[in-house]
Amino acid sequence: MEESAEEEPPGETPFFRARRMERALHFKRLFIKFEGSGVTGTQKDRISKYHVMRARELGYDTISLGSCGNYGASISYFAHKYGMKSVIGMPSFYSGDRIPEIRAYGGQIMEVPVKYEEAVEIMRQKSVEENWYDSNPGGKNSELDFHGYSAIASEIIDQLGRVPEFLAVPVGNGTTLSGIYKGFKTMKEAGLTDSVPRLIAASTDNGNPIVKAWTKRKRVVSNLDQSAIHETSINEPLVSYISYDGQTALDSIYESNGFAFEISDMEMLRYSNILKEAEGISALPASSSAIVASNLVATNLNRKIDCVVVLTGRGK
Ligand SMILES: Cc1ncc(COP(=O)(O)O)c(C=O)c1O
Repeated sequence: MEESAEEEPPGETPFFRARRMERALHFKRLFIKFEGSGVTGTQKDRISKYHVMRARELGYDTISLGSCGNYGASISYFAHKYGMKSVIGMPSFYSGDRIPEIRAYGGQIMEVPVKYEEAVEIMRQKSVEENWYDSNPGGKNSELDFHGYSAIASEIIDQLGRVPEFLAVPVGNGTTLSGIYKGFKTMKEAGLTDSVPRLIAASTDNGNPIVKAWTKRKRVVSNLDQSAIHETSINEPLVSYISYDGQTALDSIYESNGFAFEISDMEMLRYSNILKEAEGISALPASSSAIVASNLVATNLNRKIDCVVVLTGRGK
């Protein structure tokens, strides 16, 4: 029998209380939802399988996207597993950490001498010309992304037994945060819960349109000037001049009475080291930005907070 995407979604990631960190920092309670435990080590596994299954159902033999590495590794893994080809457009700047893995899954890498957003646009165009399935963010298949990420909300409610006061998520395109928030809203609208968490978005201080808009108290997300962003090997999953789901993410942050913070590479590295020492968890530094940001919220509010942090990636 053919397996459908509904039968075995990736997910059910570990959830635990980070007691040592909560004592050392400004938390009443700090819980970690560890998305780094997935097969390719990031939250992207939540959506990649859905895209591959849909592509197969629609009769495509190849799936494509632009990626800085994490999403490319995840798509190529699931494409390989379900007998499809994958083509990943990767900006030459990026660290290339994921290249051997993508190749091992049979993924074809197209190195493009441009920034991430241009790689996405090139691959979107290529998918039309070559009749490949387009799994890029902000494209015609991207409603599957919200569907995949919304499951994180229901798992948190199951694992915690309630809705947390705050939920912290790292943002690049804002897709993950928007999808999780949609999950919480859906459950509230269905009468299964009576609240949604206040969102805390964390991103890099080297350029991200969502946190830039929030820190200037703007209601509309604007693209940044390309020259205003600075990619590093630490911030690469979060830095961007276009956030494809940025407006949905910003609207969600305001609606939930939430916060957004720009975090430096140094702080991301420092907190991922603290996390390793205190809790024995190896997290991708960019994903630790969500812990830094939630600690800043507690400091700004001058009280200890109850927070779930979504750690989106495991360390290398
Ligand atoms: C590990 C990790 N965390 C967070 C993000 C940001 O997610 P989003 O682009 O959905 O905001 C990414 C995006 O690539 C990522 O790879």
